[in-house]
Amino acid sequence: MSSYETIVILDYGSQYTQLIARRVREQHVYAEILPWDVDPARVAALSPAGIILSGGPNSVYDEGAPTLPEIVIEAKVPVLGICYGMQLLAQRLGGQVARGTAREYGPAKVHIERQDALLFGGLADTLAVWMSHGDRVVAVPDGLAVLARSENGIVAAIGDDVRRLYGTQFHPEVHHTPQGVEILHRFLYDICGCQGSWTPGAFIEQAVADIRAQVGDGHVVLGLSGGVDSAVVATLIHRAVGDQLTCIFVDTGLMRRDEGHQVAETFNEALGMRLVMVDASTRFLAALAGVVDPEEKRRIIGEQFIRVFEAEARRLNDAKFLGQGTIYPDVIESAGSATAHRIKSHHNVGGLPEDMDLRLVEPLRSLFKDEVRQVGLALGLPEKLVWRHPFPGPGLAVRILGEVTRERVATLQAADAIFLDELWDAGLYRGIAQAFAVLLPVRSVGVMGDGRTYANVVSLRAVTTEDFMTADWARLPYELLGRVANRIVNEVADVNRVVYDVSSKPPATIEWE
Ligand code: XMP
Repeated sequence: MSSYETIVILDYGSQYTQLIARRVREQHVYAEILPWDVDPARVAALSPAGIILSGGPNSVYDEGAPTLPEIVIEAKVPVLGICYGMQLLAQRLGGQVARGTAREYGPAKVHIERQDALLFGGLADTLAVWMSHGDRVVAVPDGLAVLARSENGIVAAIGDDVRRLYGTQFHPEVHHTPQGVEILHRFLYDICGCQGSWTPGAFIEQAVADIRAQVGDGHVVLGLSGGVDSAVVATLIHRAVGDQLTCIFVDTGLMRRDEGHQVAETFNEALGMRLVMVDASTRFLAALAGVVDPEEKRRIIGEQFIRVFEAEARRLNDAKFLGQGTIYPDVIESAGSATAHRIKSHHNVGGLPEDMDLRLVEPLRSLFKDEVRQVGLALGLPEKLVWRHPFPGPGLAVRILGEVTRERVATLQAADAIFLDELWDAGLYRGIAQAFAVLLPVRSVGVMGDGRTYANVVSLRAVTTEDFMTADWARLPYELLGRVANRIVNEVADVNRVVYDVSSKPPATIEWE
C-alpha cells in the first residue's frame, strides 16, 4: 500500500478506531490501523504523512496502561491524539493529566479559543461535539496552546502549529460532532499536506498490477457467492489476468430467487468470464431432509459446500491460486480485533480444506465494505449487485424455521423477492443494512374469499446497523409494509399471514436461526 499517502492510526482500544479510519478514507486518504505497541519499524516503513492516536478505555495512570511509542515523536510528522491519545501526547510532552471525578459522556459544546490555529481555522467559535472521557489535561505542555475549552472550562483541544502536534478531548470521527469531518479535513490536507490519492480508480489500478505480479501466468479459481465481495474480487482478477481466472458458482438451492441466473448474466454473459455453474440443490436438500436444528443445518451446509467446491476446483487441475473476498475488518490487528475474529469464523462457510494448497489472492484485504462497493461501482458492476445486502452462507436454510424442503424454499423465495422489490421501488433498499423474509414453522387460520384457510406465516425482517454486532429494526413506512403484506398473501401460494419483526439485536439476532 505504500504507493498511497498513508495515515497511521495507532489503536488504543477505542470502539471508534475503525470509524476514524473510515472517516479519513472518505476524504480520499489511505489510513491503516496498527496496534499501539506495533514494531516501530512497521510504522516507519509506511512513511506516514501523519499519525492519529485513537481514544481508549484506560487512564494514563493505570498500571500497565498503553503508552506512546517514541516513533510517534521521532517520525516528525503531524500527530493528532484523540481523547486518550491527547492525554498520552500531553503527558509525554511534559503536561499534566488529572483523573476525572466523573465521566463526561455524550454531547457537549466547546468554545474555540484559537481560531487562527490550523486545526480550527474558519470554524464557528462554538462547536457541538461528542465527549467520552474520565481523565482530562490540567496542565498544557510547553509550546502547545489551548485551542478550545468545554463549557465547564475543561481543555478540549491543544495544539502547536510549528511542530504540528494536536489533541482533541472530543471525538471528531463520530457524527455527533458535526464539524468533525472538517476538523479531520484540516488535519489531513492543511496540516499533513495530503493530496487525496485514495480513490476507487487508483485502488483498481494498483490492485490489478499487484494481482498480475502475484499470479504471473498461474491459474486462479474463485467461488462466486452472489454477494458483492466475491463479485468485486472476480472482476478485479479478471481485469488483471482474464481467462486465467475460473469462477465457480455453487447453487445450493438455498439462494435468493434468481440469484444463479443473475450471476450467470453478469459474469459470464456481460463480462465474459469463465464460469462453472454447479446445480447442487438436490444434494443439499437431501442432506438437510428432516433436520430442524439451526447449528446442524449450518454444519451440514458448510460440509457439503466444501465437498462440492473442492471437487470442482480439483477438476481445474492447474489452479494454483484461490481468490477470496477477505476484507479489512477481518484482518485488522488492533486492540479491538477480537470481535472481528469472531465474526469471521461465523462467516466461514465456503472455506476450503487446507490440503488443497492453493495460494490466496485477496485484493480486498485493505478495504472496508463501503469501499468495496465504491470499487464495484467504479468497475461497472450493476447497482443491484453492488448494494446487495449481506446473505448468510447457509442461505435460506436459516430463514426457514423447521425442516427445509424444496417447496418451502420456493415459498420463501417468492415472499422475499416481493419484499426486496418493493424496498427497491420505494428507494429504501440502500438505506437498510439487511432485509429479508422468514418462513415460520407454524400455520395460522385465515379467511380468503368465502373459505377458511390454514396456511403459512411469513415474518419480514429489516434492520439498520453500522457493524452487524448490534442492530435496530428499521422503521419502515406502514404503507410499504401494508403493500408488501398484501402482495405476499395474494401472490404467494399457501401464505395467509405476514408479520413484521420489531426486535432489536441484542437480545434478538438479525437472522432467526
Ligand atoms: P446474526 O443473526 O448473528 O447475524 O445477528 C449477523 C450477520 O451475520 C450473518 N450471518 C451469517 N453469515 N454464515 C454467514 O456467512 C452464517 O452462518 C451466518 N449467520 C448469520 C447475518 O446474515 C448478519 O448479516
